[in-house]
Amino acid sequence: MTHTRARVALHPDFRVGPVDRRLFGSFVEHLGRAVYTGIYEPGHTTADEHGFRRDVADLARELGVTMLRYPGGNFVSNYRWEDGVGPVADRKPFLDLAWRTVEPNLVGTDEFLQWAEREGFEPMMAVNLGTRGVEAAAALVEYCNGEAGTRWADLRIANGRAEPYGVRLWCLGNEMDGPWQIGHKDAHEYGRLAAEAGKAMKLVDPSISLVVCGSSSMQMDTFGEWEQTVLTYTYDLVDHISMHAYYEELDGDRASFLASGTAMDRFIDRVAASADAVGARRRSDKTITISFDEWNVWYLESRFPGETNLPVQRDAPRIIEDVYSALDAVVVGDLLATLLNHADRVPVAALAQLVNVIAPIMTEPGGEAWRQPTFHPFATTARLARGEALDVRVDSPTTTTTRHGDVPLLTAAATHDPETGALALFLTNRSAGAVEVDVEHLGLGVELAEGWRMVADHEAAVEGPAHARRVVDACWSAVDLAADVATGARATTVTLAPESWTALAGTARRA
Ligand code: AHR
Repeated sequence: MTHTRARVALHPDFRVGPVDRRLFGSFVEHLGRAVYTGIYEPGHTTADEHGFRRDVADLARELGVTMLRYPGGNFVSNYRWEDGVGPVADRKPFLDLAWRTVEPNLVGTDEFLQWAEREGFEPMMAVNLGTRGVEAAAALVEYCNGEAGTRWADLRIANGRAEPYGVRLWCLGNEMDGPWQIGHKDAHEYGRLAAEAGKAMKLVDPSISLVVCGSSSMQMDTFGEWEQTVLTYTYDLVDHISMHAYYEELDGDRASFLASGTAMDRFIDRVAASADAVGARRRSDKTITISFDEWNVWYLESRFPGETNLPVQRDAPRIIEDVYSALDAVVVGDLLATLLNHADRVPVAALAQLVNVIAPIMTEPGGEAWRQPTFHPFATTARLARGEALDVRVDSPTTTTTRHGDVPLLTAAATHDPETGALALFLTNRSAGAVEVDVEHLGLGVELAEGWRMVADHEAAVEGPAHARRVVDACWSAVDLAADVATGARATTVTLAPESWTALAGTARRA
């Protein structure tokens, strides 16, 4: 049988940049069952003394998550953080307008930050620039990071936490370009507010890094213009601009869905270009990097009725609990490889979200927690991608898709750790046939030790742990290195199954 052939060339001297561990971030929003019956469920058989589910925390660590964004998302734009601190008995429930859900305020800033600290996740906090502003944002930074002797830091201490949390990463609001956002603003209104809030926050703690809101997606009418306007107000102040993108298979167009990584790639290039245009106008030597703090597969258009159509609910309702297929997992693997290929520009990213809400981890209240198919490529990439992202050159046949035009059938990313020699290679075959790839590594002795792959099937994703187990049994497996990989002095040849994502790992040393 003749296979489609493709070629990849790599060498540790040709690098994109270091792989920042914050690239493997995720997101916990007060939305649906992400918090209540997700990370937190007092009374659950695995709950710790603080009411947090041990099984979920263990899975989050197995996932390789390094950083968690909190408390939203759309939720943050109408959240009063003060209502979520202090004695729990005194806290009042409030009606969250973003998701039309009664928020009981049982978990707030202290509970989340202490849980993240105990479990070893770096927090990334967002402030409300929808219904609130400069004062509440600066007060929250002081509450989290301030030393004793001022009002909000002393409140934290009175609430039982003496040491500052030292939260480094702060989002200046969330998706403020979106008309659905509570307190939505135009780019000038938001740019001015973000600049003033960010200025005050940095006066409280100059060591923090700030993320200014970019567009909610590349499809927004204001895309490009928005980035340039908000950065005109905030360029010298902020460190990162945010990007959000969700992908889904629409109208049965599998080829376009499989090419989501190319759409993400172009989106990153365009945001970087917009930011650089502002920098160039200012003759600035500073580079604004990207915080891709919401990305995933989400059946947003095809399965979600829209926030305004949600009834008012309480007690952790099931909202956007997408179930994923092996095909979705292949796309997630390819999206992560795309992020690695932009490691120089995208040091921070968050898979949205962590648990129950468009998430790699699912739970049943009072029951088990399990891994969705998308869990596996994420966990494997987080574990294997170490050191430097390499500037791999790919020579692949292309296909023409309805949504994204011409796209390569094969994509590749690679990392190499100069300290240990560890090499990892991530390959996605988007075509409906097998692809044989020659990975050229001239001047390098490569030894592969392990490989993993997810092969898409045509089964519909169905709810529950049984489906997730079926996908693992049928679609997720160790690569048979003896049968599917041939390593020579100059190249390694790999046969990739149709519509599959593959990770290979071992060592690469100069010959
Ligand atoms: O992740 C779900 C939602 O998607 C977030 O709340 C919002 O920021 C985005 O639109």
